[in-house]
Amino acid sequence: MNTTAKQKEQPVNSGRRSFIASLIIGVVGFSSLMKREALAGPPGRGGKGRGGIYRGQRGMGASDPSMKADQSLIRALLNGRSQIRRQIKMLPNGVETLTETDNPQLRTVLVQHVQSMKQRVEQVRPIHLRDPLFAALFRNAKKVSMMELTATPKGVHVIETSNDPYTVKLIQAHARVVSLFVKNGQLEVRKNHPVPNSG
Ligand code: HEM
Repeated sequence: MNTTAKQKEQPVNSGRRSFIASLIIGVVGFSSLMKREALAGPPGRGGKGRGGIYRGQRGMGASDPSMKADQSLIRALLNGRSQIRRQIKMLPNGVETLTETDNPQLRTVLVQHVQSMKQRVEQVRPIHLRDPLFAALFRNAKKVSMMELTATPKGVHVIETSNDPYTVKLIQAHARVVSLFVKNGQLEVRKNHPVPNSG
């Protein structure tokens, strides 16, 4: 009799144990999911929820292997911004810019950044989409007819043009924003920059 009672009890106990185990797994799973969501920040914002440079690229890491390298170059430029000087000249069809530094390492970073951004524009691989100006620039990237970059002993000389009048405005607005990045650093990167009027 006793043996039978024990035998009957076993499945009940093991059933209870597995119920408790799945409850624990559920709670742990749910809380780690919540933590991950908190790190990712609000939906549609991307990045690490810190409001930094890279919001707008959520989930792009896997499909865009150069994103990490670009992010670290940009971080180095922002950190070294006090050593960077920049002149911009508006052209009827675009911009001409000269960005330089006396720091040889920073110069290398600058040249690499511009080479990489040129490829992003040519291949339409956006970065910094959270900012409406960058989003508009990449939507019109196919209309950028020329981005000619020449490395100088201290930096980089760029001529960027378009035959499309609206894209000219975007290129010019972007060049002004790059100057503001140099002036104001991360504070400026956090801002959304307005797109120019189409008229
Ligand atoms: C101190 C900071 C930075 C410096 C010195 C810098 C420098 C430059 C330069 C010289 C160009 C070539 C076009 C021009 O001269 O106007 C350029 C293009 C570009 N930069 Fe940066 N940059 C900085 C920060 C950033 C940041 C924070 C982003 C975005 C997260 C960014 C994204 C781009 C993109 C997308 C382009 C190509 C777009 C185009 O020229 O049409 N840059 N940058």
